[in-house]
Amino acid sequence: RKRFRVHHLIERKAAGEKLTMLTAYDSITGRIFDEAGIDLILVGDSMGDNVLGHATTIPVTLDELIVAARSVARAAKHAMVVADLPFGAYEASPQHAHASAVRMLKEAEVHAVKIEGGARIAPHVELLTGSGIPVFGHLGFTPQSENMLGGKRIQGRGDEAAERLCADALALQEAGAVCVVLEMVPAPLAARVTEILRIPTIGIGAGSEVDGQVLVWTDMAGIGDWSPRFAKQFGQVGAALAAAAHDYVSEVRSATFPGPEHQYDH
Ligand code: KIV
Ligand code: NA
Repeated sequence: RKRFRVHHLIERKAAGEKLTMLTAYDSITGRIFDEAGIDLILVGDSMGDNVLGHATTIPVTLDELIVAARSVARAAKHAMVVADLPFGAYEASPQHAHASAVRMLKEAEVHAVKIEGGARIAPHVELLTGSGIPVFGHLGFTPQSENMLGGKRIQGRGDEAAERLCADALALQEAGAVCVVLEMVPAPLAARVTEILRIPTIGIGAGSEVDGQVLVWTDMAGIGDWSPRFAKQFGQVGAALAAAAHDYVSEVRSATFPGPEHQYDH
C-alpha cells in the first residue's frame, strides 16, 4: 500500500470513493489505525477533551499537539497525517499561522495542518498552501469558537447561515485548501457544499452525502465517558480495558499473577 498523499484527495472525490479518517494522539492508536487501512489520521485538538481531561479543546497548546503528532507520524506508514493547529496558534495573522504550521511540519513531520474558520482565515490558508503546506479547512461547528457559538450546536441552519457556510467553503477552496471538514451541519447543507466544491468534504455529524467521514477515535471505539449522537460505537474498548485492569488487580491480590511462566528462574 502506497502512502496516501494530497493528490489522492481529489482523485477519490472524482472516483466517488469515500475517504476514511480517524483521530489519534499517540503511536499505539496511530499504528493500529494505519494498519487497519485508514486513509487519513487527524491529530486533533480533541485530545484536550478526550484524552487530557479538559472540558474543551481550548486549553490545548501547540507544544502538546506537536508531541502527539510526532508520535502518530512515526507510527503511520501509509496514512496521511494531519495535525490541528490549536486555539491561539494561528488566528492573529497569516504569519502567525505560518510560524505554527512550520513548527508542526519540522518538529512532528506531519503532512498537513487543519485550521478552523472560513473567509476570515482564507489569507492564512493562502500563505500556508503557497509555502507548500497542505491545509484542511474546518467549518460548521468549530470547537475552538464554542464560547462565541454558545456551546456544541448545529451550524448552518436557516438560509442566511447556509449561504455563509457555502461562501466560506468556496473561500477556503479558492485560497488553496485541499479538503474541508464539516462538523455538525444539517445533512442537506453538507451535501450541497460537497456538490459545489471541487475539493473533498469530510463530515462529522454531517450526514452521508459528503466525500468522507471522520470520528474521534475514543467515540468510535467506545472508550470515552460520553459520545455525541453522530458518533457510532464500533467497539467496546473501554469495557474491554476495564475488564483487563480489573482482572490484573484481582490476580495480583490473589497472587495468581505472576505464574511460573512469567518468572526468571536464574
Ligand atoms: O480535533 C478533532 O478531532 C477534530 C475533528 C472532530 C474534525 O477537529
Ligand atoms: Na479539532
